[in-house]
Amino acid sequence: MKLSFVHRCIFLLLCKYISNIYQYGMPMPYSLLRSLLFQLSPEVSHELSLEWMSAGHRLKLLKPFIPKIEAAPVEVMGIKFPNPVGLAAGLDKNADHIDALGALGFGFLELGTVTPRPQPGNPKPRLFRLKDQQAIINRMGFNNKGVDHLVEQVKKTRFEGPIGINIGKNFDTPVEDAMSDYIKGLRAAYEHASYIAVNVSSPNTPGLRSLQHGDALNELLDAIKEEQLLLSKQYGRYVPVAVKIAPDMDEQEIAQVANSLKEREIDGVIAGNTTLARDKVKGASFADEAGGLSGAPLTEKSTHVIRLLKSELSDSIPIIGVGGIMSGEMALDKIRAGASLVQLYTGFIYEGPKIIRNSVEAIRFGG
Ligand code: FNR
Repeated sequence: MKLSFVHRCIFLLLCKYISNIYQYGMPMPYSLLRSLLFQLSPEVSHELSLEWMSAGHRLKLLKPFIPKIEAAPVEVMGIKFPNPVGLAAGLDKNADHIDALGALGFGFLELGTVTPRPQPGNPKPRLFRLKDQQAIINRMGFNNKGVDHLVEQVKKTRFEGPIGINIGKNFDTPVEDAMSDYIKGLRAAYEHASYIAVNVSSPNTPGLRSLQHGDALNELLDAIKEEQLLLSKQYGRYVPVAVKIAPDMDEQEIAQVANSLKEREIDGVIAGNTTLARDKVKGASFADEAGGLSGAPLTEKSTHVIRLLKSELSDSIPIIGVGGIMSGEMALDKIRAGASLVQLYTGFIYEGPKIIRNSVEAIRFGG
């Protein structure tokens, strides 16, 4: 890879970041590293950080600045998790960085969204930082190398924690045929996943969110359940299925979704994806970009959805809480609202790896 001047400077600063740990036992603050990475376009900085993190991990340079995380085991959906704080889908769409991400202390990793066939996603630019709001808007559109590539990566990993594989449909598969894409994804991923996440809530694939409602949802879940039971016989192992929903639903819609999940004995619900709402970021730069908003402006909304789901589901189906967790305290709020596990994305970008330990500890002591 040919590095530009800026990239070379940042790489040198990364080396400095690591050498500081050896010299002083302390890295330079993540906030400084972040302000350097934020000099690059969001997508470039995303890709480079992951590449460098994986390279650092391979060279065993990461270890010294990985905070020690005490075990905080939980069992959810019949799976044993070393701690309840996971990585949300979308950060490692192709499972190319499992070992490095796993080494940071996440209790589990959700990889994907993958589609049956590789696809490039939406035209760039498609990722925007709203720095003052501690938020991101993305309209990536499931750019990914396809489920077969992801499965090959999962087969190679040394990460021992649970792995969720998040599946979706290709953008050019008509929404009426979406079921066949989910079944393909389920079949390809089943044997290699600790759980499967069914993503019907990305706002960036036209028509996808219509699968969250009424007959469309019920038909999809019926087909998935039937296939899950067949595969569990075939492989002699039951792999739980969790459905990932949008935060942009009213009380009645949430009650309907909860009912559909209960009736079909779905194993988990992930609440939730990014929001289309912009009320919390009015007037901010990039606020009018199309796509899903994540990070701090989503915190309350997603916690509200978790609370509503919990009151509908009680203890019948566990909830994985995700959306705007920017601190340990906010992770604990999701657990208090009814989540059994939590996931991080935007908080990890803004706060760095320390948010993993902060979240585990907040939940361990306060949960
Ligand atoms: C996402 N998210 C996401 N979710 C998903 O199910 N499949 C995906 O491919 C993606 N892709 C993706 C890309 C980018 C750039 C972002 C910021 C987010 C949604 C993500 O998993 C999470 O649900 C939301 O971002 C809300 O959590 P945070 O980011 O507020 O912690």
